[in-house]
Parts: sequence; C-alpha cells; structure tokens
Amino acid sequence: MSYLLRTYNLTKSYGDTKVVNMVNMNIRKGEIYGFLGQNGAGKTTTMRMLLGLIKPSSGEIEMFGEKVKTTSYQRPFKRIGSIIETPGFYPNLTGEENLEIHRRMMGVPDKKAIYRALEEVGLSRARNKKVKAYSLGMKQRLGIARAILHEPELLLLDEPTNGLDPIGIKEVRKKILELAHFKNITVLISSHILSEVEQLADKIGIIHQGKLLKELDSETIRKMNRRYLEIRVNNENKAAVLLEKKLNIPDFQVVEPGVIRIYGEIEDATMISRLFIEQNVDIYEMNVSKDTLEDFFVKLTG
Ligand SMILES: Nc1ncnc2c1ncn2[C@@H]1O[C@H](COP(=O)(O)OP(=O)(O)OP(=O)(O)O)[C@@H](O)[C@H]1O
Ligand SMILES: [Mg+2]
Repeated sequence: MSYLLRTYNLTKSYGDTKVVNMVNMNIRKGEIYGFLGQNGAGKTTTMRMLLGLIKPSSGEIEMFGEKVKTTSYQRPFKRIGSIIETPGFYPNLTGEENLEIHRRMMGVPDKKAIYRALEEVGLSRARNKKVKAYSLGMKQRLGIARAILHEPELLLLDEPTNGLDPIGIKEVRKKILELAHFKNITVLISSHILSEVEQLADKIGIIHQGKLLKELDSETIRKMNRRYLEIRVNNENKAAVLLEKKLNIPDFQVVEPGVIRIYGEIEDATMISRLFIEQNVDIYEMNVSKDTLEDFFVKLTG
C-alpha cells in the first residue's frame, strides 16, 4: 500500500521555540491515522501546515504522491476535507446556506451533495436554522458535513469530537470508520484522548512537545493490550527453551534479563511452575498483568 501523506522533518518555529520539531509522519492510503498528543503538543500546528494555513519553517510535505510547495499556501484543496479546531461559519446564515457556499467554492455541481452531507451527520432537520442558533455539537456536526461534502480523498480532522456528547462521539466515530472502510478515505484525526484514538486508528502517531515520538501500527497496538503472565527466574534462557520445547508455548518474550512474558490466556500456570522447578529453574515471582497503550503513552510522554 502506498503512502498518501508523508512529512519529512516538518518543523515550525515561533521565535526560538520549535513547536513542531522534525516531524516525520507516514500515512498510508485508506488508513485512519490517530494523531495523539497532550494540549500544546503541536497537533493543530502540524495540521495547519498540512493544510497550507501556515507555512512550515522547514521540512517537506508529500501529498497524493507529490511534493507540496511548502513556501506557498497552495494545496490540492478539492481532494482534502478538514476541520481545524472549531469550525467557523456565518452565524446569520443557515446550515444549508453555509454548506452552499462551500459547495460552490469547491465546484461541486450537484446540489444534492449538501443534503447528503447534512443527512450523514444527522442535521437534515436543522438545515434551515441559522447557525447562531446551533448548539456546539450541532456546529461540530456541520463542520463534519462541510468536510465531507465534496467527497475528499483525505480528511484532516483536528479533534472533531470536541464538545460532542457521548452519543455524538460514538456517531462520529462510526462515521469516520465508514468513510475509511467503505469509501477508502484516508483520515488523519487528532486527539488528546487515547481511548478515542485507540478505538479508531489503524496507526497512532504520538506527538509530544513538538516531536513525533513514535508511530505504532495496529499490530503493535493490539499486542500492547494483551494479558500476559510474567515470570521472574534465575535463568531466562533455559526457561525459554523449556517453554518452547516442552510446553509448545510459542508466544513469549524475554523482556529483560531474568524476566519472561508469556502472552495470551494461560490455562495452567502451575504446569509451567512445576516444569521449571523440576528442571532447576528458580522462580522468584509470577504474576498476570496487562500492558496497556495508556501505560505506554504515559511512560513515553512522562
Ligand atoms: N501563532 C503562534 N505563536 C506562538 N506560539 C504558538 C502559535 N501557535 C501555536 N503556538 C504554540 O505551539 C504549541 C503547540 O500548539 P498547538 O495548537 O499545535 O497544540 P495542540 O497539540 O493542537 O494542542 P491542543 O490539544 O490544546 O489543541 C503551543 O505551545 C502553542 O502555544
Ligand atoms: Mg489543537
């Protein structure tokens, strides 16, 4: 699968501070990329650069297989849909009128695209209401409608569930999954909430103080949330051989000298301890735990 969006050492400085610092993002076509970071980590700034709202200080951006001219604000706008921070609308126009402006700007010939987009986000009934009379959640939904109206190939969503109620959050999540899986739209979604990103993303990029610390693929994410049995022994090499050869347990890992983790559901831990003792492997400690992505995130970002 090819990359739809990549950055190379993307950097933005304000004064002496690099608020986005040498970021290398790799987003594949059709992927949902969760961009995770605490407040002030640099998510919005990165997304603004991708969208051409601000100019990078240095580094490069590649979109749809082509280098973007980062010294200009030009971007392939018609192929991109976005919500950056709180979406802005004309308050005295209705939801429908606001989308009509966007439709014309994007050169979408079919007027029905507006109604489809409103329907998608559950705003059909509120379409003739002025936006100033919309609730925060309704405005957020209208933002999503605007982002998808012109059927973009790439969606840049900066904390799109901000201000939504739990049901709204769930609906947006479902919508994003649908767009990615059925329409093959590539999605970059930022959030400071791990659980939200975790439920959606095929890949997670963790940004902290302007640096992209890690990109985790779905396989790694899945592995991270598994239960395991951790055994502390005097001889991990011998223990490893016993697990593999005598017990046919393939899925384990020596995580540090003397410590073995056996992944998956362990039906009979006594069988393991009995064998170890018989074979003169001393057991100092044995316990079942679970690695969570949360632990990892906390450890990584201090
Ligand atoms: N125009 C600007 N001038 C100076 N500093 C800025 C500017 N824009 C952003 N910053 C700083 O850059 C850092 C990153 O901000 P950014 O908005 O990208 O964070 P974020 O990850 O989106 O955070 P949040 O989760 O709060 O939205 C912050 O420290 C912010 O104060
Ligand atoms: Mg932000």
